[in-house]
Amino acid sequence: AELDVVVVGSCNMDLISYVSRLPKPGETIHGNKFSLGFGGKGANQCVMAARLGAATAMVAKVGDDVFGSNFIQNFKDNGVNVDNVEVTKEASTGVAPIAVNEDGQNSIIIVSGANLKLTAADVKEHESVITQAKVLICQLEIQPETSLEALRIGKQHGVTTILNPAPAEASLDPELYKLSDIFCPNETEAEILTGLPVTTAEEAEKAADVLLDKGCEKVIITLGEKGCLCKSSVSEKGIHVPARKVSPVDTTGAGDAFVGSLAYYMACHKDLRLEEVIQKACHISSISVCSPGTQTSFPYRKDLPKDLF
Ligand code: RIB
Ligand code: NA
Repeated sequence: AELDVVVVGSCNMDLISYVSRLPKPGETIHGNKFSLGFGGKGANQCVMAARLGAATAMVAKVGDDVFGSNFIQNFKDNGVNVDNVEVTKEASTGVAPIAVNEDGQNSIIIVSGANLKLTAADVKEHESVITQAKVLICQLEIQPETSLEALRIGKQHGVTTILNPAPAEASLDPELYKLSDIFCPNETEAEILTGLPVTTAEEAEKAADVLLDKGCEKVIITLGEKGCLCKSSVSEKGIHVPARKVSPVDTTGAGDAFVGSLAYYMACHKDLRLEEVIQKACHISSISVCSPGTQTSFPYRKDLPKDLF
């Protein structure tokens, strides 16, 4: 394969307000700071993989507006191939108004816009970029049929498939599980998908069993400051990888830093055991929570410790 990582997914302009606490319904509060950043789970994961050194391509739709053209430039600046990023006049570029509180926690509204105009037929047209890649990543910020089509193509051609089921919906198409070599939700998404509580590594292991029963090959549940829990369909026991202790400034996009790093290591460091891959991806994700913003907080390979490579 000429390509390491391909992402079929979303592009959202993040409109981030920093607040002392998140507003209650009906309440108006003052924020302390505002910033505009490139986001969307798909774009974030792709940019993360690219910054670590993966040859990457993005399959996406943006609007015919200033956010859309800036977005394409941002991909280019990060070395992401944009031959399969289309501009549509039918909707505006996706946006995500985000509030971040003093503990670095966030709440996010997504207005998908152009992301929902990316169809399964579009993906079929871009088939060759998927089949050329070593690893395919999908999320749930585009139409589920579109992600489904991408995963089907990937699976048929022996591409390693990663599904980050975010944001989660309780009634996920059962085929999505079967098409995922790696199924990677966070704790909240795992709760929504299984109906089980997921607050500890032990609980995560029980949820992972439920998800494995639905047909995915391996499950990795990210647990924020508790690290992650990984379990494969062929192993008796799950592996808990603890996270480094850090003081979070902004956790927005930490999951995307993890997923993008995971894809990079799986594509470019095939010799590593999955546990080592997860440790390294956790490390990179923990760096991202120490600075504000989504992509703005993702580190570049040149700034990372050599032993991560
Ligand atoms: O995972 C973080 C991302 O979720 C943000 O960049 C925002 O755009 C939303 O899609
Ligand atoms: Na961050």
